Amino acid sequence: MIPSLDILLVSRRKDILDYLEQFLTAAGFAPSRQLNSNGHVDPLHALEVLPDLVILHLSQLWREELEAIAARPPERRPALIVVGPASDMNVMRLAMQAGARDLIPDPLNRADLLQALKRAHEERRRPTPLTAGRITVFMNAKGGCGATMLACNVAHVFAAKSKQRTALLDLDLQFGAAPLYLDLYPKRGIAQALENLTHLDEVALDGYFVKHASGVNVLSHGSDEPLAPGTISPAGVSRLLEVALRSHEHVVVDMPRCVDAVTTAVMKRANQIVIVLQQSVTAVRDATRLMQWLRSDIGAAKEQLCVVINRHEKSSEITAADVQRTLACSDPALVPNDFKTVSECINSGTALLDYAGSASITRAVMTLETRLGGTSAQPRSSVIARTFSSLIPGRPR
Ligand SMILES: Nc1ncnc2c1ncn2[C@@H]1O[C@H](COP(=O)(O)OP(=O)(O)O)[C@@H](O)[C@H]1O
Ligand SMILES: [Mg+2]
Repeated sequence: MIPSLDILLVSRRKDILDYLEQFLTAAGFAPSRQLNSNGHVDPLHALEVLPDLVILHLSQLWREELEAIAARPPERRPALIVVGPASDMNVMRLAMQAGARDLIPDPLNRADLLQALKRAHEERRRPTPLTAGRITVFMNAKGGCGATMLACNVAHVFAAKSKQRTALLDLDLQFGAAPLYLDLYPKRGIAQALENLTHLDEVALDGYFVKHASGVNVLSHGSDEPLAPGTISPAGVSRLLEVALRSHEHVVVDMPRCVDAVTTAVMKRANQIVIVLQQSVTAVRDATRLMQWLRSDIGAAKEQLCVVINRHEKSSEITAADVQRTLACSDPALVPNDFKTVSECINSGTALLDYAGSASITRAVMTLETRLGGTSAQPRSSVIARTFSSLIPGRPR
C-alpha cells in the first residue's frame, strides 16, 4: 500500500516480530526487524541510521523503554508508533514524551495499525514548518530599555497575527511584569511548575500557563512575593524550555539582565537573542559588554544576535550606524519612541496590536516579529496580482 516507508519493528518477543512482519509484508510493506535481548533497556540502542518509522512493541519494561527514547534529543528520535497497554495513563504520558505519533492497544488490532501507518506516511510528506520550535530571548542592555515591552508584544503578534503557537516565559522572578502587559494575573507560576520536575510534561505544563485571548500562553512568577535568587536551577529552566518547545512554535523568554548560571543555561539553548538598547552612551557601553559575553562565553553566532534600538530618534547624536559599528552587529531593528501609546497600553493591559494596530510603533514591532520568524509584515500579493494569477489556465481557483 505504502511501500516507500522504511519501517523497523522492535520487540523483545520473537513471536510478535514474526506476526508483525508477516502481516505488514502481506500488506505490501518490507519491514526490517530488531529483536532486543535482555541486556539493553533502550529499544533503539543498536540503531545507527534512523528508519522512517519504528513500530515498538512494549514489554513489561515499558517504563524504561519509553524513558530511554524520551531521553534522546528530538532529532535522534525516529517517528514512532507504540503498541502496548494504551489505557494506562502513565504509558500514554510517557509515550507522548517519547514523541510517539500513535499508541495502539495490545493485543493489536490490524486495522488500527494500518490507520496509524497511513497517518505516519501522510505526516512524512508534509513539509516541516520553518519555525519549528524556536526560542527567542529578550534582554535589555540597561534596565528600562524596553525588553519586556518588546518581548510581550512580539509574542502577541506571533500568536494574534501570524497564528503561530506561542509561549511567553517571564524569567524575572523578582520584578517580572510581563503578565501585566497582557492584563493577566497568574495564581501559580514557574516555581510551582518546577516543583515536580520529573513529572513535568506538556500536559502538566499546560496547567500552569495563563492564556491570553490571542492564544499566547504566559508563564511567570505566580505571586507578589519575589523569589529568592537561586530558587530555580539551570536544569529546571532547561527542562521548562524543552517541554514548552514541544507544544509551541515560539517560546519567547523575557530574561532579566543578570549573568548567572540560569541565564547561561537559557542563552545556550536560545535560537535567537534580542538585545534591546536605547541611544545613550551607557546603554551602548553595556550592550557592548553583553555582546562580548554572548559571543565569547555562550558561543552565540552573529546571525543569532538581533540588536534593537528602542525609542529610536533620528535626531539623536548616537545614530543606528554608530550602534552597528560599535557592536559589530547586523543591521539593528528600529522601534520608534511613542510614550503616549506605550503607556496607555501598559496601563490598560492591552497589546499594541489590539490598541493601535496601524501606529508606526506597532508596524515596527511587526517588522521585528517577522525578522524573528513570524509572518505579520510579509508582503501580501495585491488584489490585481491575485486576480491575474487566478485566471491562469489550469490553476485551482
Ligand atoms: N518604544 C517606546 N516608546 C515609549 N516608551 C517606551 C517604549 N518602550 C518602552 N517604553 C517605556 O519604557 C518603560 C520600560 O519598559 P520595559 O519594557 O519595562 O523595560 P525593561 O524590560 O527593558 O526594563 C515602559 O514602562 C514604557 O513606559
Ligand atoms: Mg523587564
